[in-house]
Order: sequence, then structure tokens, then C-alpha cells
Amino acid sequence: KVTGEAIENTLQVEVTQEQIDAFRDDGFLCIERITNDDEIRRLRLVYDQIFADRPGEERGLFYDLAAPRGHDGRELLPQVLGPDLTFPELRETLHYRNAKRLAAALMGLNANTVTLGGHMILKPARYGSETPWHQDEAYWNPAEMLNSLSVWMSLDEATIESGCMQFIPGSHRGDIREHRHIDNNPLVHGLVTDDVDPSAAVTCPVAPGGATFHHSGTLHYTGPNTTENARRAYVLVCS
Ligand code: NI
Repeated sequence: KVTGEAIENTLQVEVTQEQIDAFRDDGFLCIERITNDDEIRRLRLVYDQIFADRPGEERGLFYDLAAPRGHDGRELLPQVLGPDLTFPELRETLHYRNAKRLAAALMGLNANTVTLGGHMILKPARYGSETPWHQDEAYWNPAEMLNSLSVWMSLDEATIESGCMQFIPGSHRGDIREHRHIDNNPLVHGLVTDDVDPSAAVTCPVAPGGATFHHSGTLHYTGPNTTENARRAYVLVCS
């Protein structure tokens, strides 16, 4: 079991064989810590600066996942693609190194061959919208994204009420479900599937610096943020 105390001493998180087996069976895994408190504080500053500066917006690297492109209302689910293009130091973090090593262990790959891409998804306090049920593979060309995995880290307390991750165990072993655009509006980037039984969901609340791993085929969901605090998530896609 990974604990906050362990990471303070070693600054290195490991997964057990039991966790690897659970990931293969369930298509997801939750760990208490992937980085330390000091780094969480520094990452929050970078994160807030990125969402204030909106780097790459004109190139399509900043948009609202849950609303039509170019809308002028308040943002429901703003996303930044490739934040490490603006802040390369994000690749030098404990978070990055642990994500890469743990993802390699879970996928049965050599960490030296694993490549990482990042995106940040912000759920604003009180009105951040849900990220409806989907499989990441629905966004991608499956031929290019075989055997990929996302590492989802929260910089805030992630609860059911603020939008923690929820998964359908074993859903990565089936086919890609049929997806449609949110609100059936092709101008909304986000996708949703109706082919899901939410009563089978497992919720994964985590403290700041906690993380979940999910296979690219695993059905997942996060609820709307009804709390008084933002829920800042940083996702690394490893393949
Ligand atoms: Ni997703």
C-alpha cells in the first residue's frame, strides 16, 4: 500500500504484483500518493498560471470540453492540452517520473520506451460540469492507441461531490461502445456513451496528490463539482 509517509522518505512509489493484477482485471487502479506535498504546492501554482494565461488557445490547445467551441458563457470544463509545451519543467517532476515508472509496470513495458502526453482538466468550484461516461479510445484512432493508460492526479481533495473518478470494472475488456457528442452538439468536443450501467460504478475519492490509473478502454465518469473549491486534475497519457 502506498502511503504519504512512504513517499516522504523514498520519493518513489511502487506498485505491488497484487495491484498490477487488479489493474489487469479491473482496468483501473487508485493510489493514495504519486507525489509529495511540496511538489503539489508547486504544481498548483503552475496550474493556476496556465489556466490564467490560456497558452495555445489560438492553436486549439485550450477549450471548454463541455460546451460548444468558442462559446462566451462561463467555462464549464476548461481543458489545456500539452501544458508541458509551455512549462517543460513539468517533465522534471516526481509526479512525471512516478507516473512513467508505474504506468510501465502496469502495462508490462520497459519505462524507457513509454512516452507521455499531458492535459489538465479544471472543474471550477460550484458549477464545473460532469464529464459524462466515456472510453478514452472513443476519442482516438484505436490502431494508434493500443495499450495506453491514463494517470489522473488531483491537486485538490477529489470526492464524489467535487468530481473524483468513477470506473466500470472490467469494461476495458469489451469493445468500444457507441459514443455521441455531449448534448448531441458536434461543436462540443466531449463525448458520451449511453451504453453503460452506472450502478456498477466504483468511485475513487483521493486526497491531493493521489492518483488513479485507467486503461484506454475503461469506462469512466466524473460528477459535477458542487463544492466551494476547484477540482484541478492533471492527466498523463502513457503509451
Ligand atoms: Ni477520459
